[in-house]
Amino acid sequence: MSNPSPFDPVRIGPLNLRNRFIKSGANEGMAKGGVPSKMLVEHHRGIAAGGAAMTTVAYCAVSADGRTFVDQVRLEPGSVKHLRVLTDAVHGEGAAVCAQITHGGAFTFLPELSTRYPRSASGGFNAAGVISGRLFRTAMKLEDLERTADEFVTAAKLAREAGFNAVEIHMGHGYLLSQFLSPAYNKRRDEYGGGAEQRARFPAMVLRRVLDAVGKDLAVSCKICVTEGFKGGATAQDAAAVARVLEREGAHLLVLSGGMNVEAPWAIFGSPMPRAATDTLQNPVIRTATRILRLWEPKISFHELYFMEHSRQVRAAVRMPLGYLGGVTSMAGVEQAMAEGFDCVVMARALIHDAQLVNKFRSGAATRSGCTACNECVVMMYTPGGTSCVLNAPNDAELNRTPAAS
Ligand SMILES: Cc1cc2nc3c(=O)[nH]c(=O)nc-3n(C[C@H](O)[C@H](O)[C@H](O)COP(=O)(O)O)c2cc1C
Ligand code: SF4
Repeated sequence: MSNPSPFDPVRIGPLNLRNRFIKSGANEGMAKGGVPSKMLVEHHRGIAAGGAAMTTVAYCAVSADGRTFVDQVRLEPGSVKHLRVLTDAVHGEGAAVCAQITHGGAFTFLPELSTRYPRSASGGFNAAGVISGRLFRTAMKLEDLERTADEFVTAAKLAREAGFNAVEIHMGHGYLLSQFLSPAYNKRRDEYGGGAEQRARFPAMVLRRVLDAVGKDLAVSCKICVTEGFKGGATAQDAAAVARVLEREGAHLLVLSGGMNVEAPWAIFGSPMPRAATDTLQNPVIRTATRILRLWEPKISFHELYFMEHSRQVRAAVRMPLGYLGGVTSMAGVEQAMAEGFDCVVMARALIHDAQLVNKFRSGAATRSGCTACNECVVMMYTPGGTSCVLNAPNDAELNRTPAAS
């Protein structure tokens, strides 16, 4: 059988996508004080107009403690009217829209938390706390697991109410659910710790409850790490075991990412973190964090499809739909991902650089992205206009100060 064209439609659970290009969740910096802005609407409308089948609104926190920063979307009743403007705008361009539902666990820089120590899979030293001042994390009790799973459910229901077509449960990059998946974080001796399958138990419980609550109406995907990118972190073999658990539980799609925010942020991007740009950051916490992280950054040079070797091992382990992510920058790369059996390609930087790229791939006007993998857009997240490519003009800061529904 021949490979599907990336421009063929694909079914993900209850959702039909018009093609196989998905915009990956990439923190937009477009929700000052947690309120989704008109800029956030424009950003996602632009990606939809540029031809992607689905765009993902990044880091929608499932609770106040689940945020990493104050300026992040929180899925609460008051956000629904703003997010409804966004989902209507995306639908108006013929695309679908996904909410990435997330809890940061011990990875948080909030000035206030409801608990003395941030919660995680296990207690102990909290590396992220070197910056936030929260040097220790506390192990979640069974009642914390129950409550947090229910927070994911409430967030998914609010996403449905706001008009989203999908939710992506964030299980990667060092946030709460990946703190359960990671052998470096999860040292539990109960049924939620142990080998890769046991560590997947709480993430799978969250998935099951979200599926039960919204899975008939919304596509439910999970973003996982195919490698955590550091010694002592989860491997591709672990990821294959996790994928089998999530497939059994009924996930509609897995988005295959990698790297960890604290231990290996460069692994998320397949390229070094930007140097000069981070020194100009206004926020002292973020500036210090990025400087400290540089101390143990290995020499790394970008290459296209940088997670392919690891992702292939997950592809071989399951039959369910998989989205390839990591350095998709050319039409040849997209075709390779299709030829290797992936169902979709999931892209962040190439679409931050050029929201029209999918249309250009389709028409032949471009065969390669102009993104240089410099990662300076990561720093732009904290600027008044929010995330944008430094090769383009910055976003409209006024639009980013204006609530979406005003
Ligand atoms: C500015 C920026 C912000 C990001 N924020 C998030 C985020 O909030 N959630 C997430 O899962 N990934 C986030 N990422 C990672 C991307 O989703 C993606 O995993 C990574 O950029 C690799 O894909 P790419 O090679 O297509 O860019 C971010 C990436 C960028 C560039
Ligand atoms: S700033 Fe632009 S060129 Fe650099 S990684 Fe981001 S999107 Fe690519």
